[in-house]
Amino acid sequence: MPVVGVFGAGQLGRMLALAGYPLGLQFRFFDPAPEASAEHLADRVCASYEDQAALERFAAGLDVATFEFENVPVGALEHICRAVPVFPPLSALAIGQDRWEEKRCFESLGIPVPTYARVDTRSDLEEAVRQIGLPAMLKTRRMGYDGKGQVRIRTAGDVEAAWQALQGQPLLLERYVEFDAEVSVLAVRNRTGATAFYPLVENVHGDGILLSSRVPAPCATPQLEEQARAYADKLLRRLDYVGVLAIEFFLERGVLLANEMAPRVHNSGHWTIEGAETSQFENHLRAVMNWPLGSTALRGMSVMYNITGTVPDIERILRIPGAHLHLYGKAPKPRRKLGHVTITADHHEALAQRERELRMALAAGSSGGLEPRVA
Ligand SMILES: Nc1ncnc2c1ncn2[C@@H]1O[C@H](COP(=O)(O)OP(=O)(O)OP(=O)(O)O)[C@@H](O)[C@H]1O
Ligand SMILES: [Mg+2]
Repeated sequence: MPVVGVFGAGQLGRMLALAGYPLGLQFRFFDPAPEASAEHLADRVCASYEDQAALERFAAGLDVATFEFENVPVGALEHICRAVPVFPPLSALAIGQDRWEEKRCFESLGIPVPTYARVDTRSDLEEAVRQIGLPAMLKTRRMGYDGKGQVRIRTAGDVEAAWQALQGQPLLLERYVEFDAEVSVLAVRNRTGATAFYPLVENVHGDGILLSSRVPAPCATPQLEEQARAYADKLLRRLDYVGVLAIEFFLERGVLLANEMAPRVHNSGHWTIEGAETSQFENHLRAVMNWPLGSTALRGMSVMYNITGTVPDIERILRIPGAHLHLYGKAPKPRRKLGHVTITADHHEALAQRERELRMALAAGSSGGLEPRVA
């Protein structure tokens, strides 16, 4: 049985393994965290990314390695590259780890981005504010996720506080986009260069965290779908990419502006487990194994809601027709993603009714009886 090594044993790794077992794949994870969502599914090496002996132990006998976590140090992957093929390519990972590199890459391919400027010093920030205007977002170039490492600057009076909050690391100032919608495109390419694209997903964020994803995207038009695919296709080719790649866009007055990319399976693609012919997780595995890609066609319409902070009453959710519950086995904590629910339906009225029920269940909160498995 082929063995796939995965850096990161969080929920994305867990869903990769769940998608891979029916295909006859085996898994091994590498994650330095004491508890990890995927650790009950396969062997896991728990060591620091700098531990070369542990990296070698992990790599021994793997057929291919991949990552589900964007901030794996590139050096750790370079180390095991000598022993085992690693996909997506490390150059894509390195670009995706730095918002500045990412934006430059988009621009070099003619993919529009919101105006931005590098900020390393307090005077860079003053200059960037003059150039870009306010409101704007000050972001760390590296290590940001779920809205962490970013501060909105509404007026000149907020500049000092934003600087105090983030200074000491490379930063970027970006125009605040009054978007009409946020969308993402999930693309996949295998080792022989075959590509496939999922339909545009419309995403709603709250406080920097993804709340929900919907397909088909209400804001999508055939022109927008085509534009997003063309941008994704350019990136796949430029990066000689293998695996699933997600690109997040702002839609502003009909124009797609790239926000960021994720060189991995993505939260805005979780709906594909039930809502597409082939899930993003399965297609990622097919791509890195160099197997034929599966169809990305929709199976009806879907909406996915993240479960964040506390676990809701699961029985109430399971009573909703067309509701598919996924819990990641993580301990509840404010702002932490603990699971998601995808609702599928084959017409709008059914979806709307089921979605109302789900929203009420999520708003009602915990049943109190559910013990998380990972303490
Ligand atoms: N320039 C901007 N203008 C308007 N809203 C923004 C801007 N930058 C970020 N946001 C909002 O904050 C959300 C999170 O931002 P972004 O995707 O840059 O951060 P992240 O922390 O890397 O998130 P992710 O969890 O997607 O990796 C965006 O989806 C959007 O809703
Ligand atoms: Mg984002």
